[in-house]
Amino acid sequence: MSDGRDAFPEGFLWGVSTASYQIEGAVAEDGRGPSIWDTFSHQPGKTTNGDTGDIACDGYHRTDSDLDLLSELGVGGYRFSIAWPRIQPDGHGAPNQAGLDYYRRLVDKLLERGIAPLVTLYHWDLPQPLQDKGGWATRDTADLFADYAATVAGALGDRVPRWITLNEPWVASSMGYRSGEHAPGITDPQQYVAAVHHLLLGHGKATAAIRAVTAAGVLPSGRPPEVGITLNMAQIYPADPSRTADRELAADLDADINGVFLDPLTRGAYPARLGPGQAPGPGLIRDGDFATIQAPIDFLGVNYYAPHIVGVREDGIVRRGDTPMPWRPGGVFTQPEHLPVTAMGWLVDPNALHDLLLRVHDDAGEVPLYITENGAACYDYVNPDGTVDDPERVAYLHGHLQAARQAIADGVPLRGYFAWSLMDNFEWAHGYSKRFGLYFVDYGTQRRIAKGSAGWYAEVAKTNSVPSS
Ligand code: FCB
Repeated sequence: MSDGRDAFPEGFLWGVSTASYQIEGAVAEDGRGPSIWDTFSHQPGKTTNGDTGDIACDGYHRTDSDLDLLSELGVGGYRFSIAWPRIQPDGHGAPNQAGLDYYRRLVDKLLERGIAPLVTLYHWDLPQPLQDKGGWATRDTADLFADYAATVAGALGDRVPRWITLNEPWVASSMGYRSGEHAPGITDPQQYVAAVHHLLLGHGKATAAIRAVTAAGVLPSGRPPEVGITLNMAQIYPADPSRTADRELAADLDADINGVFLDPLTRGAYPARLGPGQAPGPGLIRDGDFATIQAPIDFLGVNYYAPHIVGVREDGIVRRGDTPMPWRPGGVFTQPEHLPVTAMGWLVDPNALHDLLLRVHDDAGEVPLYITENGAACYDYVNPDGTVDDPERVAYLHGHLQAARQAIADGVPLRGYFAWSLMDNFEWAHGYSKRFGLYFVDYGTQRRIAKGSAGWYAEVAKTNSVPSS
Protein backbone atom coordinates (compact mmCIF):
# COMPACT_ATOMS: atom_id res chain seq x y z
CA MET A 1 0.00 0.00 0.00
CA SER A 2 1.29 3.44 -0.81
CA ASP A 3 -0.62 5.61 1.67
CA GLY A 4 1.68 4.83 4.59
CA ARG A 5 -0.12 1.63 5.50
CA ASP A 6 0.81 -2.04 5.21
CA ALA A 7 -1.90 -4.39 3.98
CA PHE A 8 -2.98 -7.76 5.36
CA PRO A 9 -3.99 -10.59 3.02
CA GLU A 10 -7.45 -10.31 1.54
CA GLY A 11 -10.08 -11.99 3.69
CA PHE A 12 -8.07 -11.64 6.90
CA LEU A 13 -10.57 -11.78 9.77
CA TRP A 14 -10.54 -8.89 12.26
CA GLY A 15 -12.36 -9.38 15.52
CA VAL A 16 -12.55 -8.78 19.24
CA SER A 17 -12.89 -11.26 22.11
CA THR A 18 -14.78 -11.52 25.38
CA ALA A 19 -15.72 -14.30 27.81
CA SER A 20 -19.00 -15.08 29.53
CA TYR A 21 -18.05 -14.75 33.20
CA GLN A 22 -16.02 -11.62 32.53
CA ILE A 23 -18.85 -9.61 30.98
CA GLU A 24 -22.28 -11.15 31.48
CA GLY A 25 -23.31 -10.71 35.13
CA ALA A 26 -26.91 -11.94 35.62
CA VAL A 27 -25.50 -14.93 37.44
CA ALA A 28 -28.79 -16.18 38.83
CA GLU A 29 -31.07 -15.36 35.91
CA ASP A 30 -33.02 -17.51 33.49
CA GLY A 31 -32.00 -20.72 35.17
CA ARG A 32 -28.21 -20.23 35.25
CA GLY A 33 -26.55 -22.31 37.95
CA PRO A 34 -23.40 -21.36 39.88
CA SER A 35 -19.97 -21.84 38.34
CA ILE A 36 -16.62 -22.34 40.03
CA TRP A 37 -15.89 -18.65 39.46
CA ASP A 38 -19.01 -17.61 41.38
CA THR A 39 -17.88 -19.74 44.29
CA PHE A 40 -14.24 -18.72 44.11
CA SER A 41 -14.76 -14.98 43.70
CA HIS A 42 -17.09 -14.94 46.69
CA GLN A 43 -14.42 -16.42 48.96
CA PRO A 44 -12.62 -13.72 50.96
CA GLY A 45 -9.18 -12.80 49.66
CA LYS A 46 -9.36 -14.53 46.29
CA THR A 47 -9.82 -11.47 44.07
CA THR A 48 -8.64 -7.86 44.23
CA ASN A 49 -11.12 -5.86 46.34
CA GLY A 50 -13.26 -8.97 46.68
CA ASP A 51 -14.63 -8.28 43.20
CA THR A 52 -17.00 -10.85 41.70
CA GLY A 53 -18.69 -11.34 38.31
CA ASP A 54 -22.18 -10.91 39.82
CA ILE A 55 -22.79 -7.83 37.68
CA ALA A 56 -19.58 -7.55 35.62
CA CYS A 57 -20.38 -5.43 32.51
CA ASP A 58 -24.05 -6.35 32.77
CA GLY A 59 -23.54 -7.69 29.25
CA TYR A 60 -26.40 -10.16 29.58
CA HIS A 61 -28.85 -7.24 29.68
CA ARG A 62 -26.99 -5.01 27.23
CA THR A 63 -26.58 -7.31 24.29
CA ASP A 64 -27.98 -4.92 21.70
CA SER A 65 -26.02 -1.86 22.72
CA ASP A 66 -22.85 -3.94 22.99
CA LEU A 67 -23.46 -5.30 19.50
CA ASP A 68 -23.63 -1.67 18.37
CA LEU A 69 -20.05 -1.33 19.59
CA LEU A 70 -19.02 -4.22 17.35
CA SER A 71 -20.68 -2.54 14.39
CA GLU A 72 -18.98 0.73 15.29
CA LEU A 73 -15.64 -1.11 15.24
CA GLY A 74 -16.55 -2.65 11.92
CA VAL A 75 -15.13 -6.04 12.87
CA GLY A 76 -15.95 -9.15 10.87
CA GLY A 77 -15.74 -11.54 13.84
CA TYR A 78 -16.75 -11.67 17.48
CA ARG A 79 -15.35 -14.27 19.85
CA PHE A 80 -17.47 -14.86 22.92
CA SER A 81 -17.91 -17.82 25.23
CA ILE A 82 -20.93 -19.80 26.30
CA ALA A 83 -21.48 -20.19 30.04
CA TRP A 84 -21.88 -23.93 30.58
CA PRO A 85 -24.00 -23.32 33.73
CA ARG A 86 -26.54 -21.39 31.65
CA ILE A 87 -26.98 -24.45 29.43
CA GLN A 88 -26.69 -27.19 32.08
CA PRO A 89 -26.94 -25.73 35.58
CA ASP A 90 -25.95 -29.10 37.07
CA GLY A 91 -23.34 -29.81 34.41
CA HIS A 92 -25.28 -32.63 32.75
CA GLY A 93 -28.66 -33.64 31.42
CA ALA A 94 -31.40 -31.84 29.55
CA PRO A 95 -30.50 -28.31 28.53
CA ASN A 96 -32.00 -25.19 30.01
CA GLN A 97 -33.90 -23.75 27.05
CA ALA A 98 -33.60 -20.14 28.26
CA GLY A 99 -29.81 -20.46 28.19
CA LEU A 100 -29.75 -21.83 24.66
CA ASP A 101 -32.21 -19.14 23.57
CA TYR A 102 -30.01 -16.37 24.91
CA TYR A 103 -27.02 -17.50 22.85
CA ARG A 104 -29.15 -18.26 19.79
CA ARG A 105 -30.41 -14.67 19.86
CA LEU A 106 -26.86 -13.40 20.25
CA VAL A 107 -25.64 -15.47 17.31
CA ASP A 108 -28.57 -14.42 15.11
CA LYS A 109 -28.02 -10.76 15.88
CA LEU A 110 -24.35 -11.08 15.01
CA LEU A 111 -25.19 -12.75 11.72
CA GLU A 112 -27.72 -10.01 10.94
CA ARG A 113 -24.90 -7.53 11.31
CA GLY A 114 -22.58 -9.55 9.12
CA ILE A 115 -20.34 -10.50 12.04
CA ALA A 116 -19.10 -14.10 12.20
CA PRO A 117 -19.44 -15.68 15.65
CA LEU A 118 -16.38 -17.52 17.00
CA VAL A 119 -17.79 -19.46 19.91
CA THR A 120 -15.72 -20.72 22.82
CA LEU A 121 -17.43 -23.56 24.68
CA TYR A 122 -15.32 -23.38 27.81
CA HIS A 123 -13.77 -20.20 29.13
CA TRP A 124 -13.33 -21.42 32.70
CA ASP A 125 -16.84 -21.26 34.17
CA LEU A 126 -17.31 -24.93 35.09
CA PRO A 127 -20.69 -25.71 36.70
CA GLN A 128 -20.05 -25.89 40.46
CA PRO A 129 -21.85 -29.25 40.84
CA LEU A 130 -19.17 -30.79 38.59
CA GLN A 131 -16.42 -29.34 40.75
CA ASP A 132 -18.13 -30.89 43.75
CA LYS A 133 -17.47 -34.24 42.04
CA GLY A 134 -13.79 -33.45 41.35
CA GLY A 135 -13.95 -31.04 38.39
CA TRP A 136 -11.32 -31.52 35.69
CA ALA A 137 -9.31 -33.80 37.99
CA THR A 138 -12.05 -36.37 37.26
CA ARG A 139 -12.17 -38.21 33.94
CA ASP A 140 -15.98 -38.07 33.80
CA THR A 141 -15.80 -34.32 33.29
CA ALA A 142 -14.26 -34.87 29.85
CA ASP A 143 -17.30 -36.95 28.80
CA LEU A 144 -19.74 -34.47 30.28
CA PHE A 145 -17.99 -31.67 28.43
CA ALA A 146 -18.44 -33.57 25.16
CA ASP A 147 -22.16 -34.02 25.93
CA TYR A 148 -22.49 -30.32 26.61
CA ALA A 149 -20.62 -29.50 23.38
CA ALA A 150 -22.96 -31.79 21.42
CA THR A 151 -25.99 -30.10 23.00
CA VAL A 152 -24.82 -26.62 22.08
CA ALA A 153 -23.66 -27.64 18.60
CA GLY A 154 -27.03 -29.34 18.09
CA ALA A 155 -28.80 -26.07 18.88
CA LEU A 156 -26.47 -23.62 17.13
CA GLY A 157 -24.50 -25.75 14.66
CA ASP A 158 -26.49 -24.50 11.68
CA ARG A 159 -25.32 -20.91 12.26
CA VAL A 160 -21.92 -20.91 13.99
CA PRO A 161 -19.05 -21.22 11.49
CA ARG A 162 -16.24 -21.74 14.06
CA TRP A 163 -16.06 -23.41 17.42
CA ILE A 164 -13.31 -23.32 20.02
CA THR A 165 -13.54 -26.16 22.51
CA LEU A 166 -11.35 -24.84 25.32
CA ASN A 167 -9.80 -21.52 26.15
CA GLU A 168 -6.28 -21.77 27.58
CA PRO A 169 -6.34 -25.17 29.24
CA TRP A 170 -2.92 -24.34 30.77
CA VAL A 171 -4.43 -21.50 32.77
CA ALA A 172 -7.48 -23.58 33.69
CA SER A 173 -5.27 -26.40 35.01
CA SER A 174 -2.14 -24.69 36.27
CA MET A 175 -3.73 -21.69 37.92
CA GLY A 176 -6.85 -23.61 38.92
CA TYR A 177 -5.28 -26.77 40.36
CA ARG A 178 -1.53 -26.09 40.89
CA SER A 179 -1.00 -22.48 42.01
CA GLY A 180 -4.61 -22.03 43.08
CA GLU A 181 -4.73 -18.38 41.94
CA HIS A 182 -7.83 -19.12 39.89
CA ALA A 183 -11.00 -21.12 40.51
CA PRO A 184 -11.33 -23.72 41.90
CA GLY A 185 -8.32 -22.58 43.95
CA ILE A 186 -6.69 -25.99 44.40
CA THR A 187 -2.94 -26.43 45.03
CA ASP A 188 -2.36 -30.13 44.38
CA PRO A 189 0.17 -31.32 41.76
CA GLN A 190 -1.68 -34.61 41.29
CA GLN A 191 -4.96 -32.90 40.58
CA TYR A 192 -3.06 -30.56 38.28
CA VAL A 193 -1.72 -33.31 36.01
CA ALA A 194 -5.10 -35.05 36.05
CA ALA A 195 -6.75 -31.79 34.99
CA VAL A 196 -4.24 -31.39 32.13
CA HIS A 197 -5.07 -34.82 30.75
CA HIS A 198 -8.81 -34.55 31.19
CA LEU A 199 -8.97 -31.10 29.60
CA LEU A 200 -7.16 -32.49 26.55
CA LEU A 201 -9.45 -35.51 26.48
CA GLY A 202 -12.45 -33.23 26.83
CA HIS A 203 -11.20 -31.23 23.85
CA GLY A 204 -10.79 -34.35 21.71
CA LYS A 205 -14.14 -35.79 22.67
CA ALA A 206 -15.92 -32.48 22.20
CA THR A 207 -14.31 -32.05 18.78
CA ALA A 208 -15.64 -35.45 17.72
CA ALA A 209 -19.04 -34.67 19.23
CA ILE A 210 -19.37 -31.36 17.37
CA ARG A 211 -18.35 -33.03 14.13
CA ALA A 212 -20.88 -35.83 14.64
CA VAL A 213 -23.71 -33.38 15.26
CA THR A 214 -22.82 -31.12 12.33
CA ALA A 215 -21.51 -33.76 9.91
CA ALA A 216 -24.08 -33.13 7.21
CA GLY A 217 -22.84 -29.61 6.47
CA VAL A 218 -25.62 -27.76 8.20
CA LEU A 219 -24.27 -24.25 7.61
CA PRO A 220 -25.84 -22.19 4.82
CA SER A 221 -22.48 -22.53 3.04
CA GLY A 222 -23.13 -26.28 2.89
CA ARG A 223 -19.91 -26.88 4.76
CA PRO A 224 -19.64 -28.19 8.28
CA PRO A 225 -18.33 -25.74 10.87
CA GLU A 226 -14.65 -25.56 11.78
CA VAL A 227 -13.46 -26.75 15.17
CA GLY A 228 -10.32 -25.72 17.03
CA ILE A 229 -8.81 -25.06 20.43
CA THR A 230 -7.16 -21.98 21.90
CA LEU A 231 -3.87 -22.25 23.77
CA ASN A 232 -2.14 -19.51 25.73
CA MET A 233 1.41 -19.48 24.51
CA ALA A 234 4.46 -17.57 25.61
CA GLN A 235 7.69 -17.35 23.69
CA ILE A 236 10.42 -18.17 26.20
CA TYR A 237 13.98 -16.89 25.96
CA PRO A 238 17.05 -17.58 28.06
CA ALA A 239 18.24 -14.36 29.73
CA ASP A 240 21.78 -15.16 28.62
CA PRO A 241 21.71 -17.46 25.59
CA SER A 242 25.38 -18.31 26.09
CA ARG A 243 24.68 -19.93 29.50
CA THR A 244 23.58 -23.56 29.56
CA ALA A 245 21.65 -23.13 32.80
CA ASP A 246 19.55 -20.34 31.30
CA ARG A 247 18.91 -22.29 28.11
CA GLU A 248 17.90 -25.39 30.05
CA LEU A 249 15.54 -23.40 32.25
CA ALA A 250 13.96 -21.78 29.18
CA ALA A 251 13.45 -25.20 27.58
CA ASP A 252 11.92 -26.58 30.79
CA LEU A 253 9.52 -23.69 31.05
CA ASP A 254 8.62 -23.98 27.39
CA ALA A 255 7.68 -27.63 27.96
CA ASP A 256 5.68 -26.73 31.06
CA ILE A 257 3.70 -23.87 29.50
CA ASN A 258 3.59 -24.54 25.76
CA GLY A 259 4.58 -28.14 25.15
CA VAL A 260 2.30 -29.73 27.73
CA PHE A 261 -0.71 -28.92 25.53
CA LEU A 262 0.83 -28.38 22.11
CA ASP A 263 2.76 -31.68 22.01
CA PRO A 264 -0.15 -34.03 22.76
CA LEU A 265 -2.19 -32.19 20.12
CA THR A 266 0.48 -32.14 17.44
CA ARG A 267 2.44 -35.34 18.09
CA GLY A 268 0.46 -37.41 20.58
CA ALA A 269 2.85 -37.33 23.56
CA TYR A 270 3.69 -35.17 26.56
CA PRO A 271 7.08 -33.44 26.43
CA ALA A 272 9.86 -35.80 27.56
CA ARG A 273 11.37 -32.97 29.58
CA LEU A 274 8.47 -32.96 31.99
CA GLY A 275 9.16 -35.25 34.92
CA PRO A 276 6.64 -37.13 37.07
CA GLY A 277 4.35 -34.66 38.74
CA GLN A 278 4.76 -32.20 35.88
CA ALA A 279 2.93 -34.17 33.20
CA PRO A 280 0.24 -36.86 33.23
CA GLY A 281 1.70 -40.32 33.76
CA PRO A 282 0.60 -43.90 32.99
CA GLY A 283 -1.93 -43.90 35.84
CA LEU A 284 -3.97 -41.31 33.96
CA ILE A 285 -3.37 -42.17 30.32
CA ARG A 286 -5.48 -44.99 28.87
CA ASP A 287 -5.12 -46.75 25.55
CA GLY A 288 -6.48 -44.63 22.76
CA ASP A 289 -6.36 -41.35 24.67
CA PHE A 290 -3.82 -39.72 22.41
CA ALA A 291 -5.83 -40.70 19.34
CA THR A 292 -8.84 -38.99 20.93
CA ILE A 293 -6.79 -35.92 21.81
CA GLN A 294 -5.40 -35.76 18.27
CA ALA A 295 -8.81 -35.49 16.63
CA PRO A 296 -7.96 -33.35 13.58
CA ILE A 297 -8.57 -29.65 14.14
CA ASP A 298 -9.40 -27.05 11.51
CA PHE A 299 -7.48 -24.25 13.20
CA LEU A 300 -5.42 -23.50 16.26
CA GLY A 301 -6.15 -20.40 18.34
CA VAL A 302 -3.18 -18.66 19.89
CA ASN A 303 -3.55 -16.26 22.79
CA TYR A 304 -0.39 -14.23 23.12
CA TYR A 305 0.42 -11.42 25.52
CA ALA A 306 4.06 -11.51 26.60
CA PRO A 307 7.29 -13.48 26.47
CA HIS A 308 9.20 -14.84 29.44
CA ILE A 309 12.91 -14.18 29.70
CA VAL A 310 14.33 -16.52 32.31
CA GLY A 311 17.65 -17.11 33.96
CA VAL A 312 19.33 -18.92 36.83
CA ARG A 313 20.98 -16.75 39.49
CA GLU A 314 23.64 -19.12 40.70
CA ASP A 315 25.03 -16.46 43.03
CA GLY A 316 21.62 -16.31 44.70
CA ILE A 317 21.46 -12.54 44.20
CA VAL A 318 18.13 -11.36 42.85
CA ARG A 319 18.56 -8.43 40.43
CA ARG A 320 16.24 -5.48 39.96
CA GLY A 321 13.21 -6.62 37.97
CA ASP A 322 13.73 -10.30 38.82
CA THR A 323 10.75 -12.38 39.94
CA PRO A 324 11.94 -15.57 41.63
CA MET A 325 10.36 -18.89 40.63
CA PRO A 326 9.32 -20.46 43.91
CA TRP A 327 9.47 -23.97 42.40
CA ARG A 328 12.98 -23.64 40.94
CA PRO A 329 15.84 -22.61 43.24
CA GLY A 330 17.78 -19.76 41.62
CA GLY A 331 15.33 -19.52 38.70
CA VAL A 332 14.00 -16.04 37.93
CA PHE A 333 11.81 -14.25 35.42
CA THR A 334 13.86 -11.25 34.34
CA GLN A 335 12.78 -7.85 33.16
CA PRO A 336 15.25 -6.33 30.72
CA GLU A 337 15.40 -2.56 30.97
CA HIS A 338 14.78 -1.99 27.28
CA LEU A 339 11.31 -3.62 27.29
CA PRO A 340 8.24 -1.74 28.51
CA VAL A 341 5.73 -3.48 30.80
CA THR A 342 1.94 -3.21 30.84
CA ALA A 343 -0.28 -2.54 33.85
CA MET A 344 -0.23 -6.30 34.43
CA GLY A 345 3.56 -6.15 34.74
CA TRP A 346 3.80 -8.15 31.50
CA LEU A 347 6.70 -7.47 29.10
CA VAL A 348 5.90 -5.82 25.78
CA ASP A 349 7.85 -7.50 22.98
CA PRO A 350 6.12 -7.76 19.59
CA ASN A 351 9.10 -9.59 18.15
CA ALA A 352 8.33 -12.47 20.50
CA LEU A 353 4.92 -12.84 18.81
CA HIS A 354 6.66 -13.16 15.47
CA ASP A 355 9.01 -15.82 16.86
CA LEU A 356 6.14 -17.63 18.53
CA LEU A 357 3.99 -17.78 15.39
CA LEU A 358 6.88 -19.26 13.43
CA ARG A 359 7.50 -21.83 16.14
CA VAL A 360 3.82 -22.83 16.37
CA HIS A 361 3.66 -23.14 12.61
CA ASP A 362 6.73 -25.35 12.75
CA ASP A 363 5.13 -27.62 15.36
CA ALA A 364 1.58 -27.60 14.03
CA GLY A 365 2.31 -27.77 10.30
CA GLU A 366 -0.21 -26.36 7.86
CA VAL A 367 -3.09 -25.98 10.30
CA PRO A 368 -4.44 -22.41 9.99
CA LEU A 369 -3.80 -20.16 12.98
CA TYR A 370 -5.89 -17.41 14.52
CA ILE A 371 -4.68 -15.02 17.17
CA THR A 372 -7.72 -15.35 19.41
CA GLU A 373 -6.47 -12.91 22.07
CA ASN A 374 -3.83 -10.21 22.21
CA GLY A 375 -3.92 -6.88 24.00
CA ALA A 376 -2.69 -4.82 26.90
CA ALA A 377 -3.88 -3.59 30.27
CA CYS A 378 -3.17 0.12 30.67
CA TYR A 379 -3.81 2.71 33.37
CA ASP A 380 -6.85 4.11 31.56
CA TYR A 381 -8.90 7.01 32.93
CA VAL A 382 -11.56 9.39 31.66
CA ASN A 383 -10.32 12.87 30.77
CA PRO A 384 -12.29 15.92 32.01
CA ASP A 385 -13.76 16.23 28.52
CA GLY A 386 -15.10 12.68 28.70
CA THR A 387 -12.59 11.04 26.34
CA VAL A 388 -10.14 8.21 27.09
CA ASP A 389 -6.68 8.25 25.52
CA ASP A 390 -4.67 5.05 25.48
CA PRO A 391 -1.58 5.60 23.33
CA GLU A 392 0.24 2.71 25.05
CA ARG A 393 -2.48 0.27 23.94
CA VAL A 394 -2.37 1.65 20.40
CA ALA A 395 1.42 1.22 20.37
CA TYR A 396 1.04 -2.33 21.70
CA LEU A 397 -1.54 -3.31 19.06
CA HIS A 398 0.41 -1.61 16.32
CA GLY A 399 3.65 -3.38 17.19
CA HIS A 400 1.98 -6.77 17.50
CA LEU A 401 0.05 -6.41 14.27
CA GLN A 402 3.23 -5.51 12.43
CA ALA A 403 4.81 -8.63 13.93
CA ALA A 404 1.83 -10.74 12.83
CA ARG A 405 2.08 -9.31 9.34
CA GLN A 406 5.75 -10.18 9.19
CA ALA A 407 4.95 -13.73 10.30
CA ILE A 408 2.44 -14.03 7.44
CA ALA A 409 5.08 -12.76 5.04
CA ASP A 410 7.38 -15.46 6.42
CA GLY A 411 4.83 -18.15 5.54
CA VAL A 412 2.68 -18.56 8.67
CA PRO A 413 -0.95 -19.38 7.76
CA LEU A 414 -2.42 -16.77 10.09
CA ARG A 415 -6.05 -16.15 9.15
CA GLY A 416 -7.34 -13.68 11.70
CA TYR A 417 -6.71 -11.54 14.76
CA PHE A 418 -9.01 -10.98 17.73
CA ALA A 419 -8.11 -8.17 20.12
CA TRP A 420 -8.60 -8.73 23.82
CA SER A 421 -10.94 -7.19 24.66
CA LEU A 422 -14.05 -5.48 23.35
CA MET A 423 -14.44 -3.69 26.68
CA ASP A 424 -12.95 -3.55 30.17
CA ASN A 425 -14.22 -6.47 32.24
CA PHE A 426 -13.75 -8.76 35.23
CA GLU A 427 -10.07 -9.67 34.96
CA TRP A 428 -10.29 -12.87 37.06
CA ALA A 429 -8.23 -12.66 40.27
CA HIS A 430 -7.52 -8.98 39.49
CA GLY A 431 -11.21 -8.15 39.55
CA TYR A 432 -11.98 -4.81 37.88
CA SER A 433 -8.55 -3.34 38.61
CA LYS A 434 -7.07 -4.18 35.19
CA ARG A 435 -8.50 -2.67 32.03
CA PHE A 436 -7.93 -4.41 28.70
CA GLY A 437 -10.83 -2.96 26.69
CA LEU A 438 -11.01 -0.99 23.49
CA TYR A 439 -14.03 0.50 25.25
CA PHE A 440 -13.75 1.90 28.76
CA VAL A 441 -16.45 0.69 31.15
CA ASP A 442 -17.60 3.05 33.87
CA TYR A 443 -18.78 0.31 36.23
CA GLY A 444 -20.98 2.66 38.30
CA THR A 445 -23.18 3.56 35.36
CA GLN A 446 -22.18 0.78 32.93
CA ARG A 447 -21.51 3.47 30.35
CA ARG A 448 -19.10 2.37 27.60
CA ILE A 449 -16.69 5.01 26.25
CA ALA A 450 -14.63 4.39 23.11
CA LYS A 451 -10.93 4.69 23.93
CA GLY A 452 -8.50 6.05 21.37
CA SER A 453 -7.61 2.46 20.50
CA ALA A 454 -11.20 1.71 19.41
CA GLY A 455 -11.01 4.30 16.62
CA TRP A 456 -7.52 3.12 15.72
CA TYR A 457 -8.62 -0.52 15.51
CA ALA A 458 -11.74 0.38 13.51
CA GLU A 459 -9.45 1.92 10.89
CA VAL A 460 -7.40 -1.28 10.82
CA ALA A 461 -10.50 -3.41 10.30
CA LYS A 462 -11.90 -1.06 7.67
CA THR A 463 -8.73 -0.80 5.62
CA ASN A 464 -7.38 -4.32 6.33
CA SER A 465 -4.05 -2.66 7.03
CA VAL A 466 -1.86 -1.14 9.73
CA PRO A 467 0.13 2.08 9.62
CA SER A 468 3.62 1.42 8.27
CA SER A 469 5.23 3.24 11.17
C1 FCB B 1 -6.28 -14.56 29.14
C2 FCB B 1 -7.74 -14.96 29.30
C3 FCB B 1 -8.68 -13.82 29.14
C4 FCB B 1 -8.16 -12.53 29.75
C5 FCB B 1 -6.75 -12.26 29.28
C6 FCB B 1 -6.16 -10.97 29.80
O1 FCB B 1 -5.49 -15.46 29.85
O2 FCB B 1 -8.09 -15.96 28.38
O3 FCB B 1 -9.91 -14.21 29.69
O4 FCB B 1 -8.27 -12.57 31.10
O5 FCB B 1 -5.91 -13.32 29.62
